[in-house]
Amino acid sequence: MTATRIDGKEFSARVRADVATHVARLKADHGITPGLAVVLVGEDPASQVYVRSKGKQTVEAGMQSFEHKLPVETAQSDLLNLVARLNADPAVHGILVQLPLPDHMDEAAVINAIDPAKDVDGFHISNVGRLATGQSAMVPCTPLGCLMLLRDTFGSLSGKTAVVIGRSNIVGKPMAQLLLRDSCTVTIAHSRTADIAEVVRRADIVVAAVGRPQMVPGDWIKPGAVVIDVGINRIDAPELGEGKTRLVGDVDFDSVAQVAGAVTPVPGGVGPMTIACLLANTLTACCRAANLPEPEGLTA
Ligand code: GUN
Repeated sequence: MTATRIDGKEFSARVRADVATHVARLKADHGITPGLAVVLVGEDPASQVYVRSKGKQTVEAGMQSFEHKLPVETAQSDLLNLVARLNADPAVHGILVQLPLPDHMDEAAVINAIDPAKDVDGFHISNVGRLATGQSAMVPCTPLGCLMLLRDTFGSLSGKTAVVIGRSNIVGKPMAQLLLRDSCTVTIAHSRTADIAEVVRRADIVVAAVGRPQMVPGDWIKPGAVVIDVGINRIDAPELGEGKTRLVGDVDFDSVAQVAGAVTPVPGGVGPMTIACLLANTLTACCRAANLPEPEGLTA
């Protein structure tokens, strides 16, 4: 059996086009332009790339982008003052503080200072609690992107057996909550799970989010299962030439594709969905702030 390749690049382009359509309607009918503020502290090269990409795609969707770049030595109190200003700014509907923050800052204190209604990352403790208790929440972007791909693949997820590999606050735990909300039977596996191969082999849905290159081989996968690979790992690739590297996921794509029903590639799977869902969350936050109906198909 050869798995279907789930095309996240194509799907995310559809999500972004859908967001842009809603944004154009909001402007025309209500005179409102959704705005996203992104805050970057320091000069981490990977974070700089993400932030640039977020800004560009925000503008392409017709929204306002506010970028705040602060030096690495910024005092936490100054960052908190900026967050307070953004909380109070009616043109800002979404606030994202790029992580990781420098070591002298308390990430939880900064994230929990963001107005939960503007917390488009879904990291604020009140959004975490609201997701866990089934209340309307802002949902973390990467798990939301995985959920959209799974709903598109299966239609209803009700009654499916799902295994999430990885227990991070950003992906593993919220992913498990979302699958539970869609009535899956959910297991979270992690580095201490006994006989992980046997646990994963029960799953109709596997979401791998551990950050270990090609950790999940094909013989862990139930035939026909749908496999979502969240990992983005850079590995040496001497076969491409001396000193070359390439990106791989947490899943061994070639062996998994022999067994699975469908699988996301890396790159081009989950990755492009994250920023698309950030735009969707910004639109959702804007609609909620204006007491307008939420955009259909773009929320959890
Ligand atoms: N750093 C890496 N991924 C993310 C993310 O999804 N949100 C934020 N705020 N920082 C990140």
